[in-house]
Amino acid sequence: SMMRDISGVSDLERALGKFMQTKDCIVVPGNTDESSWVKYELGRACLNHMKDHLKDQNTIAVTGGTTIAAVAEALTTDFSNKELLFVPARGGIGTDVKNQANTICEVMAEKTNSNHMVLYVPDQVSENIYEFFKNEPYVFEVLSEIRSANIVIHGIGEALTMAKRRKTSEEDMKKIVEGKAVAEAFGYYFNENGEVVHKVQTIGLQLEDLDKIDTIYAVAGGESKAKAIKAYMKIAPKNTILVTDEAVSKLILKG
Ligand code: G3H
Repeated sequence: SMMRDISGVSDLERALGKFMQTKDCIVVPGNTDESSWVKYELGRACLNHMKDHLKDQNTIAVTGGTTIAAVAEALTTDFSNKELLFVPARGGIGTDVKNQANTICEVMAEKTNSNHMVLYVPDQVSENIYEFFKNEPYVFEVLSEIRSANIVIHGIGEALTMAKRRKTSEEDMKKIVEGKAVAEAFGYYFNENGEVVHKVQTIGLQLEDLDKIDTIYAVAGGESKAKAIKAYMKIAPKNTILVTDEAVSKLILKG
């Protein structure tokens, strides 16, 4: 089989990159589902790559979740020689405070002696309220920064895990289940073909905005995310760099 020939991580990276038809894949040893330190390794691998792609001035939009929180933990002061501004990619899709994009941005800024912005916009509010928020000067400023970001770092979640983690209404849960969602990324739920079956309405980065962004990191590992990663990568912009682990890479390539 194909697997017999894949021994080292670099072979896996090559095979996975070809399979996903994406710019680059970075694979770290281990299984995120089994050992929590692998998340930290995903973070280190992402940052290691990012270091070489920084400009003098950078706006980095980040999402929430435990994986991106681990990326923040892995940041060090050797990033402080470049100008960095961390902005939450989307407002309001919060889980616990520690893993919210706003908090992660704050940690990232602290670790690198740089700046960050916050975006506090509640979920599930009416269209009118959204319009109101969008035009509020500070929110408007954050949204412009998000759209002009040169780097995005986001997680990929397993759909039902994410839907349960968030306070998803019964009605939306029905859409997610009936739509056979398997993946979630920045508030969008995707089925196996990468089609959007549900979208959490929050302001901030939208799927179509990704096309204009130079460097995008999708950071997700663990065998439990095999379907999610596969589905999301079907529609991910081709300049997405997937940062993942060995265990799920092997499972995906096994088909
Ligand atoms: O959008 C995806 C989620 O942020 C992934 O969350 O990193 O805690 O699995 P996680």
